[in-house]
Amino acid sequence: MFIFTKKSDLTAHLKQICTPKTKIGFVPTMGALHQGHLSLMKESLKNNSYTVVSIFVNPTQFNNAEDLEKYPRTLERDVEKITELSKDILVFAPSVEDMYEGNTKSIPFNYDGLEFQMEGAHRPGHFDGVGTIVKKLFEIVQPTNAYFGEKDFQQLQIVKKMVEKHKLPVSVHGCPIHRETNGLAMSSRNERLSEEARNEAALIYKTLKAAKSKFTKHSAKEVIAFVEDTFKKRPNFQLEYFEIADEATLLPCKRKSKTKKYRGFIAVFINNVRLIDNISLN
Ligand code: PAF
Repeated sequence: MFIFTKKSDLTAHLKQICTPKTKIGFVPTMGALHQGHLSLMKESLKNNSYTVVSIFVNPTQFNNAEDLEKYPRTLERDVEKITELSKDILVFAPSVEDMYEGNTKSIPFNYDGLEFQMEGAHRPGHFDGVGTIVKKLFEIVQPTNAYFGEKDFQQLQIVKKMVEKHKLPVSVHGCPIHRETNGLAMSSRNERLSEEARNEAALIYKTLKAAKSKFTKHSAKEVIAFVEDTFKKRPNFQLEYFEIADEATLLPCKRKSKTKKYRGFIAVFINNVRLIDNISLN
């Protein structure tokens, strides 16, 4: 197992082992790895000559200092999990200094409006930070394929847009959400939940499934009202948003169209931990 902490060491190694035909698969993560991340790695291992996994808690995508500070950092455990899966994975775990070289700032991106919806509206600057780090990582790793989880569906669409706009030579793949047995979407942030909160948080997916079933007969407005009402009755939860949006543009669904694909997107706090999830509605 190779672990690189400096981009210069990783690029030197890749230069040594790759020919122009080598396919590199890349899984960018912020660590605190779970089954969802491992499934992305499995996908990459199946389809590429080499797989690189980055573990880097990117400061520029946090709009809340406390969230950044409390983000779980579990490098040793992460490396154990990766080794159990495959000893051939190359791990890249750089420092903030190595990635940002003394200028820990994001650059502004234009994602044709995808950035103004949902997460973008509630976490100002978040997607500039994501674009900044993902672009830097793509430039270092130069992957053929990159794998992202659909739990962060908006992020996935944004990364695809960035790749298209900057004409980056990488195929971006979205992979299905992995869930706990109670339906809670796997997330590194779940580590911050008590056992009780984890159990209670099953309500999120249960409500998304109910919303999906209602969406067959009801308008988006009615389904949104149903979800808002469900969470109002549960004081342990603070619903930040539930939106029904067009998968391609992420614009809110005003009137249902048979030709569009819709998704329900939710952000909710439980015990001060912010969780997001989404579900395909048609
Ligand atoms: O989804 C994440 O874990 C992060 O946003 C990513 C893509 C690794 C960029 O820091």
